[in-house]
Amino acid sequence: MPEKLKVLHAASEVVPFIATGGMGQVTGALSGALAEHDKSLDVRVVAPFYAKFRNKYQTQTKFLGSAEVNLAWRVQSCGVYELSHDDVTYYFVDNEYYFGREDAYGYADDGERFAFFCKAVFAVIEVSGFVPDVIHAHDWQTALIPIYLKTEFVEKYSNIKTVFTIHNIEYQGQMPDFIMGDVFGMSDDDSDIIWYNDCINLMKGAIVCADKVTTVSPSYADEIQVAGGYGLEPIIREHSHKLSGIINGIDTKVYNPATDSLLGQHTYTADNLSGKASSKAKLQGFFDLEQAPNKMLICVVSRLVSHKGIDLITYMFDDMMKLGVQFLLLGTGEHAYELFFEEKALQNPGDVAVSIAFNPEIAGMIYAGADVLLMPSRSEPCGLAQMIASRYGTVPIVRRTGGLADTIRDCRHGDGNGFVFDDYTVKALMDTIKAALDLYTNRPDDWKNLIKATMNVDFSWNLSALKYGDLYRELAK
Ligand code: GLC
Repeated sequence: MPEKLKVLHAASEVVPFIATGGMGQVTGALSGALAEHDKSLDVRVVAPFYAKFRNKYQTQTKFLGSAEVNLAWRVQSCGVYELSHDDVTYYFVDNEYYFGREDAYGYADDGERFAFFCKAVFAVIEVSGFVPDVIHAHDWQTALIPIYLKTEFVEKYSNIKTVFTIHNIEYQGQMPDFIMGDVFGMSDDDSDIIWYNDCINLMKGAIVCADKVTTVSPSYADEIQVAGGYGLEPIIREHSHKLSGIINGIDTKVYNPATDSLLGQHTYTADNLSGKASSKAKLQGFFDLEQAPNKMLICVVSRLVSHKGIDLITYMFDDMMKLGVQFLLLGTGEHAYELFFEEKALQNPGDVAVSIAFNPEIAGMIYAGADVLLMPSRSEPCGLAQMIASRYGTVPIVRRTGGLADTIRDCRHGDGNGFVFDDYTVKALMDTIKAALDLYTNRPDDWKNLIKATMNVDFSWNLSALKYGDLYRELAK
């Protein structure tokens, strides 16, 4: 049997262990899909052993050993643990000082914490003996891996190739200059690599150093070269020969209304939607909304930040409610938005409910029970909620940007699986909600057909996992 190509994903989050957003869902589902569909690969994942899940999983892991990791003048110890889950081997990097904290991110020394993680990945390679052909690094937290491979480890690991995936270019890992020598241990000669617009920019360094750069949809790959790159456009253009956009999938085994245990006895399929109707009643009950089967229930499941289009929603909120709909929101984020929606729930009892939380179980209930998902993002690298909602027959209303443009087609122009609008304006969003409401209210059979069309789109990882596999093979040639 030919030897398998060894691929190591490095990520600061990965489901089922830890996810604070879409990136963790994708690293988990992608590595699982690769292991399942591409038997020519040996796929493993390395992630920090955060206290939050260490307590839960430690007994299932095997301690492989420990090593010392240098960050400039610091010497830190790194414990390496191994765990097998669904055909994927996971390595966890243990260090009490950096990862024994309440949350994954949000600390003043995050730059140092993830520099440690990146350095520790090389310790994991030593301790485990798994020397990958390709390291696939995700977002700025792992940007130093391709950078170290072109600097400190250029000779030692000259055979390892890298893929760097941009999940969201808005978060670039910008830091003050002293960190370069004092924490990363890099010499001034290498400052060209990670210096950009008067500060350190880790994402820029990864784009420069990685052998391939990908992002999570073809449209976003175009957008970040022209205006959506948050200042990195010239760098992306310079390296566009190694850039490609590969659309994310979702785990269609986990997200399956026919088998989802979160739905209890209300499971359903595209051909028999009665479970969806009862899921709506259950959802309305759970959130103290009026039990109104024929009121269109609009939901938002999102981080509450302006580029997700939350500002647009606040500007049109009262007008939208005048249409006689119900509204449900789940998410956390900027405090002003949290307060805004909490106040709206108080002002509209029975019609508006809000849960300020990141809660996959409640999200599951909402995807199943709502009629419409609103995702009017200003920018959206890929977006997962529109695909998950679709799978549950909740019709997405999205703005044409990034992965939303690549996954949703407007049903007003022929075959569609949702509603799509172009302008980032209150008017465009309101007109689209009105069009959806008109179809929902006045043409119930057409609405049902739309739900079916929505549910029947294949958002699985099958195709995209193959594309990543091809990319790895091309690199390893
Ligand atoms: C980020 C992006 C989101 C994408 C996810 C997974 O969270 O904002 O659009 O779906 O990463 O790639």
